[in-house]
Amino acid sequence: MSTTQKIDPSRIPSRTLNSGDKMPAIGLGTFGSDHVTNETVAAAVKTAIEIGYRHIDCASVYGNEVEIGATLKETISSGLASREELWITSKLWNDKHAEEDVIASCKKSLADLQLDHLDLYLVHWPFPNFHAKGCDVSSRSPDAKPYIHENFMKTWRKMEKLVELGLVKNIGTSNMTKAKLELVLADAAIKPAINEMELHPHFQQAELYDYVVSQGIQPVGFCPIGSPARPERDKSSDDTVDTEDPVLQEIAAKHGLHPATLCVKWAEQRGQIPIPFSTNPRNMYANLESLTIEKLTVAEMEAISQIDQNCRLIKGQVFLWKDEQTWEDLWDLDGTIAQ
Ligand SMILES: NC(=O)c1ccc[n+]([C@@H]2O[C@H](COP(=O)([O-])OP(=O)(O)OC[C@H]3O[C@@H](n4cnc5c(N)ncnc54)[C@H](OP(=O)(O)O)[C@@H]3O)[C@@H](O)[C@H]2O)c1
Repeated sequence: MSTTQKIDPSRIPSRTLNSGDKMPAIGLGTFGSDHVTNETVAAAVKTAIEIGYRHIDCASVYGNEVEIGATLKETISSGLASREELWITSKLWNDKHAEEDVIASCKKSLADLQLDHLDLYLVHWPFPNFHAKGCDVSSRSPDAKPYIHENFMKTWRKMEKLVELGLVKNIGTSNMTKAKLELVLADAAIKPAINEMELHPHFQQAELYDYVVSQGIQPVGFCPIGSPARPERDKSSDDTVDTEDPVLQEIAAKHGLHPATLCVKWAEQRGQIPIPFSTNPRNMYANLESLTIEKLTVAEMEAISQIDQNCRLIKGQVFLWKDEQTWEDLWDLDGTIAQ
């Protein structure tokens, strides 16, 4: 795959993290939603770097770090981008929270990605829980547990150790709530540099977003386009579709953008780092280019802030630990951590 349309990476904004590191303000997602092959995702990573992306959002659970690693090796050895120019994130999966598993899991991702360090390593979810890849949302692990802060901190200490060992430059959280983050911030020796969270115009999470920013943590927004190709198991009948929103469609038309691209542009202008997935070079280019064109007006940003539907798409049902629970129990809606 190759493309002639490129953007000089120096034109892409970056965000300075609480560690002082600068992180590119857009990344390429690499979760192929279970229907795109690992080879296709790895080829998309190469195309993205050719186009001008310098930040790739990986995770061990996506099952494609070996293929992405081969791409990264080729990218670096061919001189397309140096290791220093690239920002590579990976994530600790839920069945590897045990103290003895954290460093080994990170080393496995490093070996698969053919890297000697990661720029960012995240605890993917705050729940320790094994469930088979691709399992139905009704599937429950007999060993599933609620968030137990003492246990999470044991995992976090090992995340901190990874920084000390030089294997990881920054550590962060994902799928957290304000209630859980408050506890972590009180006890962490190294504060999370970022929190990766679902963020798109129909799910803006204003309260959590504002809290994260107020604590000096950079939000990274996943499913920035509303994940239109997410697996069937993650769809429910009352989910809304961001790209069909008339307000977004009207603003997109004014700027000559696809509504999907507007979602990405809005995200970066609001302040989160969007990580859109794409295997289509035209879409990858449009998403990257959107950060370099004229800004949305204050009135347009205000109009988009009003279309939030509080529509969480990645509900996390497989993490539930009791039969009578609903997915809302995972998200501490009343400010207390369900046990
Ligand atoms: N931390 C977590 O727990 C978590 C959870 C979910 C996701 N993530 C991360 O977030 C990334 C993004 O989320 P996602 O993949 O679910 O959804 P998404 O980025 O919101 O949507 C991706 C879809 O949008 C389409 N698209 C992209 N750009 C477009 C454009 N300019 N015009 C039209 N369509 C466009 C893509 O199709 P084409 O391929 O045809 O362009 C793809 O089907 C994931 O890949 C993963 O890295 C993290």
